[in-house]
Amino acid sequence: MVEQATELKGKNILVTGGAGFIGSHIVDRLAPDNNVFLLDNLFNGSLDNLSKSKDMITFVKGDIRDKELVAETVARVEYIFHLAAHVGNIRSLKDPYFDMEVNIKGMLNLLEACRSNPNLKRLVYSSSGAIFGEAKYLPIDEEHPLNPESPYAVSKLAAEKYAFAYHKVYGLPVTAVRYFNAYGPRQDSSEYANAVSIFLSRTLKGEPLTVFGDGEQTRDFIFISDIVNANVLAATRPAAIGEIFNISTGEVHSIKQLIEIIREVTGKEVPYSHQPFRKGEVKHSKANIDKAKKLLGYRPQTGLKEGIRLTWEAMGRGGNKDGRR
Ligand SMILES: NC(=O)c1ccc[n+]([C@@H]2O[C@H](COP(=O)([O-])OP(=O)(O)OC[C@H]3O[C@@H](n4cnc5c(N)ncnc54)[C@H](O)[C@@H]3O)[C@@H](O)[C@H]2O)c1
Repeated sequence: MVEQATELKGKNILVTGGAGFIGSHIVDRLAPDNNVFLLDNLFNGSLDNLSKSKDMITFVKGDIRDKELVAETVARVEYIFHLAAHVGNIRSLKDPYFDMEVNIKGMLNLLEACRSNPNLKRLVYSSSGAIFGEAKYLPIDEEHPLNPESPYAVSKLAAEKYAFAYHKVYGLPVTAVRYFNAYGPRQDSSEYANAVSIFLSRTLKGEPLTVFGDGEQTRDFIFISDIVNANVLAATRPAAIGEIFNISTGEVHSIKQLIEIIREVTGKEVPYSHQPFRKGEVKHSKANIDKAKKLLGYRPQTGLKEGIRLTWEAMGRGGNKDGRR
């Protein structure tokens, strides 16, 4: 049976990074039925992402590196979705110290604050499929070796390890969800973003695409609504405590196949040229999601073509950011 994540009602919930792409969709899901606090310094997020929920939430403009603010905010809630991060392999190569500060110190601030909160029911950490590095085998299950190949992936893994150390030592009710390649409305389409949002944004503007490498590299693209559902399942299923889940679709498409789908959905020509592969990016990626299916009842529900169609429609209505950074 497909589990629809609807159980969080009347709870005090913190979403860090809630003004960002994924966080704002989680906020939209939770805000009507819960008391949602959102901590974000708007480094990469935007209040525009919160147009649906802004009147239903408490927005705390602040930095996850601010220990006191984090402690004050965590003390008010029972559930935490931790998404605030310096996101992306390429961005992290440009500023690895900053990446480390936000992603690792930010997590440590949160965990230390959680230790003093006896009401905490669950901390759901948004981890990343990037921590696996180049696949040793496919599909990638949770036991796959961890060989992060960028400062970003190292910092995401370190934060995950901190969270599980605090689970073991202090019994914190932690769970981690490792997304593979997320996409959907409101996603950043700057140079630091991923292929789907950059390709759609350029197609909207009538600009040609750049494909890094031969275009045969494959990705497991996951639509935003499936990520939101996985988060709420991870927050509510008792079996999720102390567990890590790969969250994606288990289906892969090459970059060339992605471009074909974009052509079909948009009806545009979508011309492209090639550039060399970029450092810090893997060739192939595909998630094994059996554990999330079994323990969470998670089922991805949106295929790539449908997800691209929904994202394209939303972009037509101004639903994606347009390379602000
Ligand atoms: N997008 C993906 O494909 C993907 C894949 C795997 C994991 N993730 C993880 O999911 C989470 C959300 O990613 P996203 O794609 O929505 O990115 P995003 O950049 O849209 O969201 C991150 C949010 O964190 C905020 N933030 C950044 N630094 C902060 C700080 N110091 N203090 C407070 N807030 C801060 C940003 O302003 C932004 O709103 C991240 O933790 C990311 O590592 C994303």
